[in-house]
Amino acid sequence: MARIPKELVDHIIQTADIVEVVGDFVQLKRKGQNLWAPCPFHNEKSPSFSVNPAKSLYKCFGCGKAGGVVQFVMDVEGTSYVEALKYLAKKYAIEIQEEEKTPQQQLEQNERDSQFIVSDFAKNHYHRLLLNSEEGMSIGYGYLKERGLNLSTIQTFELGYSLDSWDDLMKAAETAGFDKKYLEKTGLTVIRTDDQGKDTGRRYDRFRGRVMFPIHNISGRVVGFGARTLKRDDKMAKYLNSPESEIYHKSDVLYGLFQARQAIRTQEVCYLVEGYLDVLSLYQGGIKNVVASSGTSLTEGQIRLIKRYSDNVTVLYDGDAAGIKASLRGTDLLLEGGLNVRVVLFPDGDDPDSYIRKVGDQRFTEYIETKSQDFISFKTTLVAREASGDPVKKAEAIRDVLHSIAKVPDAIKRQVFLQQTSATFGIDEQVLITEYNKLVKSPSQQTKPSGQADNRGNYGNGAGSANTGYPPSANPRPAPAPRPMTDEEEAEMLVYGGAEAAESLGTPFTAAPKKAAEEEDIPDMLQVCEREVLRLLVLYAGREIEPEISVAGYLMGQLGEYPLQKPLYAEMWEICRQELLAGRFPDARLLAQNEREDIRQLITDLATERYEISPNWRTKEIYVFNEVDLPQLACDNAVLRLNKVHVQRELDQCLERLRHPLEDAEMFEILGDIKRLKELDNELAALLGTVVARGS
Ligand code: CTP
Ligand code: MN
Repeated sequence: MARIPKELVDHIIQTADIVEVVGDFVQLKRKGQNLWAPCPFHNEKSPSFSVNPAKSLYKCFGCGKAGGVVQFVMDVEGTSYVEALKYLAKKYAIEIQEEEKTPQQQLEQNERDSQFIVSDFAKNHYHRLLLNSEEGMSIGYGYLKERGLNLSTIQTFELGYSLDSWDDLMKAAETAGFDKKYLEKTGLTVIRTDDQGKDTGRRYDRFRGRVMFPIHNISGRVVGFGARTLKRDDKMAKYLNSPESEIYHKSDVLYGLFQARQAIRTQEVCYLVEGYLDVLSLYQGGIKNVVASSGTSLTEGQIRLIKRYSDNVTVLYDGDAAGIKASLRGTDLLLEGGLNVRVVLFPDGDDPDSYIRKVGDQRFTEYIETKSQDFISFKTTLVAREASGDPVKKAEAIRDVLHSIAKVPDAIKRQVFLQQTSATFGIDEQVLITEYNKLVKSPSQQTKPSGQADNRGNYGNGAGSANTGYPPSANPRPAPAPRPMTDEEEAEMLVYGGAEAAESLGTPFTAAPKKAAEEEDIPDMLQVCEREVLRLLVLYAGREIEPEISVAGYLMGQLGEYPLQKPLYAEMWEICRQELLAGRFPDARLLAQNEREDIRQLITDLATERYEISPNWRTKEIYVFNEVDLPQLACDNAVLRLNKVHVQRELDQCLERLRHPLEDAEMFEILGDIKRLKELDNELAALLGTVVARGS
């Protein structure tokens, strides 16, 4: 195998900036000396993937993948060491002087590499034909010009043309010395079979007489093609696409993402369209943050891809009935992925491509800005209008909307949507919530395939079911084994990253004035959280969260693991527990008659404390829900926050221990604990909906 000289390898590694390289694939945010992002190798909502620029290392505390800059490219791309080096060399315009190799030698690198190389060859071949052959220029280029595309767009997207011939590509590949098996594996040639389905030994080019749209993965490698016929022949499919292959997994690719990714990040929104031409027209019109699902319905893999670059998606669909239906279908999955979804519909008969060509870039942008609607409101208005006047339809429509709301992983957003929906349909919010709770508990919701997150936030027991709320990856490509970090690296990064992790977990409350001296060692935020739980207990003890479950019973059940630590609160708690055991609900008015002065004072304080989320609660959306109507939500929040404080304290203790010299075994035990606690903390954060505030 061709070797890249050692000095050159060193040069590449020294030149490559790990922050830049990783930054092409995930959105890194600085926290202290490290940078953090949600891990590109496993599903998660809050960042446990870190990059240490000083050491040029990356490490995920969730899945354990770790290494240097070359390893990162190998992991993310699934390529060999040599190909990863080439990728970096290309990125940094470093020329690689390889020994002369025959194409066959190149192909021997590894299976995936070979398929990338042959796809790249085909892309160049088609591109050359489009711009340099007579047939390509008159038919292919002529067509693209007629569709309004200019040369620069054609070059950016590396469009091409396949001759109307059975074997043009095959011959060209043979002349260049490629093994034909790679043309077959990537679907560029079709194996001709006989009636029994047996290989006849004959082959022909799959793409003939078509405009070629190369499909790139996020690092810009061609993995497959879309191909549009130019013939007006009803029997022929307008678009023909490469079949699935080892390098092309349709469900993990979005057309245009490679070209759009920087713009998606800077614009902080991803426009989602249906077709190749929609992407090209918008891009050419200066709207570069656009990708296409290529006509198929969205997949979880595609949604994860978008999430690497932005949390905001605006779906741009045709204004016809089919377009609206499509936009309704795909979007529940987007919501489930935790994305903020907006919708824009175009006037009947127009798609984004035809509309931008009709009105121009400026007015198109204005249209998107003024016409985009939040998805849930969009759906609510739509189904409400359809169902007006028909009570049966209306009930169905409401349930339909509730289904969508249930997909939103963020409890606070769900809450807001429920309020909106109640307003739009003119139906009492409490009734709606009852309906919602029935729905999230219905068997059809519970018998989801295993692994499907169930954090629909049934407002009765949400706190009990911690879950990350993101379906597991169905990544069909087996991830290459990561080069394990040396123990030294690992410990170093963990201590170092871990301390920052703790810092990034932050303290949601600013310090309140210190209380009594004896309580010095109980952190203020713990006290605040304990007090909140107690307040709900005292004020709403007898309220039913759902039939048979009272606020008091619920809180008692939830707090099992961590009893209250502040002595006065613990005593108060015990008094309430005794009341419950005696078959009575604690009653603030009676408790306020207690013989002890400090208890009386506490009760009066709790009962009169106006409930407000203090500005110190570190959520972006300061949202004061109506606890009188929704004690269950208030309880969930309080319990989750309290649990989170405990988890954070345990994490702090682990990190503190790591700062001292330790035996290996002991250290690994602590590292394991940290990992577990961090996961738990992430889950709690996700449930609390505070994730958005994290790291920003
Ligand atoms: N598509 C496909 N196979 C088909 C038809 C459509 O893969 N037989 C995909 C293509 O990705 C296409 C998208 O669905 O871009 C949208 O289809 P359509 O709206 O029919 O095509 P347009 O992109 O509008 O193409 P054109 O404007 O060239 O007709
Ligand atoms: Mn079109």
